[in-house]
Amino acid sequence: MASDPRGKAATLAQRRRLLSSSCRLFFPEDPIKIIRSQGQYMYDEQGEEYIDCINNVAHVGHCHPLVVQAAHEQNQVLNTNSRYLHDNIVDFAQRLSETLPETLCVFYFLNSGAYHGHLSSLIDISPYKFRDLDGQKEWVHVAPLPDTYRGLYREDHPNPAEAYAGEVKRVVSSAQAQGRQIAAFFAESLPSVGGQIIPPAGYFPEVAKHIRKAGGVFVADEIQVGFGRVGKHFWAFQLQGEDFVPDIVTMGKSIGNGHPVACVATTQAVARAFEATGVEYFNTFGGNPVSCAVGLAVLNVLEKEQLQAHAAHVGSFLMELLRQQKAKHPIIGDIRGVGLFIGVDLIKDEATRTPATKEADYLVSRLKENHILLSTDGPGRNVLKFKPPMCFSLDNVQHVVAKLDAILTDMEEKLRSCETLRSQPCGSPAKPCPSLGKWAIAGLLMHSLEAKLQLSFWE
Ligand SMILES: Cc1ncc(COP(=O)(O)O)c(C=O)c1O
Repeated sequence: MASDPRGKAATLAQRRRLLSSSCRLFFPEDPIKIIRSQGQYMYDEQGEEYIDCINNVAHVGHCHPLVVQAAHEQNQVLNTNSRYLHDNIVDFAQRLSETLPETLCVFYFLNSGAYHGHLSSLIDISPYKFRDLDGQKEWVHVAPLPDTYRGLYREDHPNPAEAYAGEVKRVVSSAQAQGRQIAAFFAESLPSVGGQIIPPAGYFPEVAKHIRKAGGVFVADEIQVGFGRVGKHFWAFQLQGEDFVPDIVTMGKSIGNGHPVACVATTQAVARAFEATGVEYFNTFGGNPVSCAVGLAVLNVLEKEQLQAHAAHVGSFLMELLRQQKAKHPIIGDIRGVGLFIGVDLIKDEATRTPATKEADYLVSRLKENHILLSTDGPGRNVLKFKPPMCFSLDNVQHVVAKLDAILTDMEEKLRSCETLRSQPCGSPAKPCPSLGKWAIAGLLMHSLEAKLQLSFWE
């Protein structure tokens, strides 16, 4: 179904002319023009279908009919700001409160999770942002990522939760020694930008003890990982222990299934402290009747289609098949995940666990050629991240893993045949390897030039 009279090239040219390049495209070398989506599928201007493995915003499925209908119906009646009385905002707050521990009972509605450079204070506390700017401010303290695969304390440590929490205690003490106080500890419940990390259970409660003792509060960012995605629980922070309760929980993305709605939930104590400042909280769009109707519809669909249990079931099947791939392909160093939040950590070799960044990039572009949309994350940009719409199916899992297997096998075969070529004497003509990709060809060229560089074939 081709129904795009303008064409992709024209859209791209217009975008380059009118939009800032700071807003980067996915697949910049060959961007995709998506004109329609449904469930876990997206369609380009030629009608080509792509399987969406990354869009955790389209939580209950792209364009879910019940969510679309709820927005449409409310749009026809009223949309205005939250300073008039309206049932939708209180009903949505009520329903959210039923998913949370009892003490998280005060809600602020917004239209974005807000960390992408919209506020300098939020850039200041995001290491992956401030590292490229002015660096770390003296009032910001960064704790080591509780990464048991590549971090300070690994899978062989007897108690990584306590060890990593001990690092937080050390950071707190050193801040205090410099005369600083602690306001808050911010963490994604499962760090996604950090590389799909699963903090060891028990880490958050220990951290919260140290932070609260120092007078701070614990903020759990559930924007990517909340709303049933982890399967076993509705919120990812609940993986840390049944009794663990943050002081503040932030939610966004999935709660509106693509409609811009976000929320902060907190305790009476924190809310009272904010009220005592006398500062009014108001947000033009946050909590409007349409956004709240959408939020309620998303919750209804989650319940009706039992998507949390579905995420647990499909996610464990995906983990199982990926583990089989790990046994087969040495480039896969680690498979970690919970529910439909899964990372595949690609490495250059097991001894060093060096991120296989370019290989990951190459793999993602080959998957895209096969109409599978995946992306990479982590400081080394080497972790394939699965966080698909929650309706992702067992068939999707089988299809995606089979393609992944075929591409990895193909990469390995090409590497082997190039190694044979490389082992020939230097004077012999270097034949190009068929469709090796740019890194492999660069490797061959360097070889034929007798370069003194140590190159792996994807470097
Ligand atoms: C973990 C996390 N927190 C917060 C945000 C910010 O949300 P928004 O883009 O709605 O401002 C994002 C967005 O990517 C995110 O991934």
